[in-house]
Amino acid sequence: MQALRPTGRTIYFFGALGGLLFGYDTGVISGALLFIPNAFKLTPFVKGAVVAGLLLGAMIGAAFAGRLSDRMGRRRLIMIAAVVFTGGALLAAFAPTVAVLIAARFIIGLAVGSAALVVPLYLAEIAPTEVRGRIASLNQLMIVSGILAAFIVNAILASSQNWRLMLGLAAAPSVVLLAGMLFMPETPRFLVHAGEEDTAHDVLEDLPGDEPPGERIEEIREVEQHEESGGGLSGLIRAKWVRPALLVAVGLAVFQQFVGINTIIYYAPTTLTNVGFAKTSAIYANLIIGVINVGMTIFAIRMIDRWGRKPLLFAGVAGMVGSLLVLGISLSALPTPHHPGDPAAIITLICLATFIASFAATWGPVVWVMLPEVLPLSVRGTAMGIAVFGNWGANFLVSQTFPPLVSGLGPGPVFLGYAGLGILAGLFVKFFVAETKGRSLEEIEADLQRAAGRGRRRHEAARPAALSR
Ligand code: BGC
Repeated sequence: MQALRPTGRTIYFFGALGGLLFGYDTGVISGALLFIPNAFKLTPFVKGAVVAGLLLGAMIGAAFAGRLSDRMGRRRLIMIAAVVFTGGALLAAFAPTVAVLIAARFIIGLAVGSAALVVPLYLAEIAPTEVRGRIASLNQLMIVSGILAAFIVNAILASSQNWRLMLGLAAAPSVVLLAGMLFMPETPRFLVHAGEEDTAHDVLEDLPGDEPPGERIEEIREVEQHEESGGGLSGLIRAKWVRPALLVAVGLAVFQQFVGINTIIYYAPTTLTNVGFAKTSAIYANLIIGVINVGMTIFAIRMIDRWGRKPLLFAGVAGMVGSLLVLGISLSALPTPHHPGDPAAIITLICLATFIASFAATWGPVVWVMLPEVLPLSVRGTAMGIAVFGNWGANFLVSQTFPPLVSGLGPGPVFLGYAGLGILAGLFVKFFVAETKGRSLEEIEADLQRAAGRGRRRHEAARPAALSR
């Protein structure tokens, strides 16, 4: 299958394509939900289940995908996710009952959770160090493009009310993903881990990068030899030196949701109609949000390897907390708006846009870039499974509690609460997160081993040049 030997850009494109399905499937439901009641009776509980089915599936998908990616490889898992995506999308489109629809959403969730884990892992492991941030950010670019595509499809199909087509269209890119991945290589790091060094050598030859393949392989092998655990959950629990990295990964993954991003991605049209927008204007305003999301992600891709990850994370906290404070205070203090021209309505739209711009340029891509960077190779998949499970768990918590909190406390105090969580996210970055820009995955891991006070002499005596370049 690898006779075609694709190189750089093609590999990065197909490697990232799973992100598109992640985005489309999470973005499409807000529009489809308006019309599903034409076919099935939806009580509030059942409606919640249709939305939450995907989130629960994603939590479970992420939990298992980590171990699977360490066992069967990154590439094969992406292909399995593509098959599951396709099956789930078709099942949702043709669902004869609401129970089947919920089951289909859960199945799609399994694939979304797996993709959320394995796509950034694949990209980080296949990209050359100097541009790793940029390449790994392609995952987020695909996610936000998928969300925007879903918003556009929703707007186009709204007049025909064809929710089955909205859901079924996700099958098309997943077939492309499956076909493309047949020709893509496994990552060199996984191949070395699996003892297939000759193949790793071939793959590295086809990839851009300054270092000769032999040296890269030697470096990967060197670092892996100093790892204590044999992978898997039990290995992870035993490996004390991995814990600081795991804390950073889980913290970043959870705070990425606790800053409240999906109260906007999932509920912006609702928030806008609550401040006086008509339904159709709210759907168009939502498109603006989708476009800003894509535009600012492109900005982040250009900056992430120049400015580094930490400055972006701090800038993101400043922008998000600032917009949430203004939003929270104005919704609490100004008279309830009934018209888009009312001050609180205008301020709401501006604050939602500023928040999205701040997230998209920073925490959106940076977190998915950093998770595989901070975790060591032998447990990378399993440990990412825990972090990505945390990300979807936090997503579930935020998106399920947002509507009852807003109706109980009012939107102002709820957004102020998210501003508080944003400040905690900033403190977490300040005290726990180290910069990873410009350092090879092996160097980052060697630092972790040194910090844990293990293997220092062995390591530096054996190979100082490779690890402290
Ligand atoms: C987050 C998603 C979010 C999306 C918005 C991703 O990085 O993980 O939860 O919906 O960004 O663009």
